Amino acid sequence: MSLVYAKNDWYAIAAADEMTLGQQRQTLLLGTPLTVTATDEGVVVRDDQGKTYPYQIKFDHVWTALGDAPRALFDIPEGDEPGRRCVPCGVVRVKCSPLRAVENFLDIAHFPFVHTDILGAEPHTEVEPYKVEIREEQDEVWATKVRFFQPKAAKSAGSGITTEYEYRVPAPTVAVLYKTCPPKPEAQDVIAIFVQPRGEEECDVWPWMALYDDESSFEELVQFQQEIFLQDRSILENQLPHRLPLDPKMEIPTRADMTSVAYRRWLKKRGALYGAMTEVA
Ligand SMILES: [Fe+2]
Repeated sequence: MSLVYAKNDWYAIAAADEMTLGQQRQTLLLGTPLTVTATDEGVVVRDDQGKTYPYQIKFDHVWTALGDAPRALFDIPEGDEPGRRCVPCGVVRVKCSPLRAVENFLDIAHFPFVHTDILGAEPHTEVEPYKVEIREEQDEVWATKVRFFQPKAAKSAGSGITTEYEYRVPAPTVAVLYKTCPPKPEAQDVIAIFVQPRGEEECDVWPWMALYDDESSFEELVQFQQEIFLQDRSILENQLPHRLPLDPKMEIPTRADMTSVAYRRWLKKRGALYGAMTEVA
């Protein structure tokens, strides 16, 4: 059942600018081996039996869905704003549930301990109360009014600032973060992760950013994000159980994890259980 549900979501499976004509990329999505080929007519996504699947290019990535009735792909309108730099940040393979990767991205409390002196620092470990809601109309999880002190919030940040965050989960394996933009206070930087579930306990994470930053080079921006995601990877691969428990009794959430509680509840209600654990093993 969980696989049928998961098959009708769209997933990033390749960076669009890496698909040169004739090039083939082998990958794995929801346990299905796929070949992705760039042709004169566009991208062809095919499985081992020769069955082809739809694709679309969005947010600098190639997206596909394996099911017969895919849901609509969400939008990130900021990506189309003139003046923003859209930066695909490569891929990080992580041996963990795709849902764990999203949950970790939503967790603010780990910043001072995992991303020390970059996204957080002791003694600034307190997470102030913020607002979490499930927006029924859009069917998305949102956390707003999240405030946190960060020594180096972005590549473009000169010194420590109190950063304001908003988190958005528009699909079970996608998280979007809106945060204070150091060189342009009236705007927000956008940082997203598109998680490709290879299986229930392994995923490829495609970070993507849409920023106002004229100073940093493309390589510097990618390097900054890669460094952060590599710090997360070691934490994620050591988390037990490997699948995300959806029963609140199985892991005791703290106040800082309100977003995680809402995310788990939302997944359960939707029946988005691929990569989840619903009973004690
Ligand atoms: Fe992290």
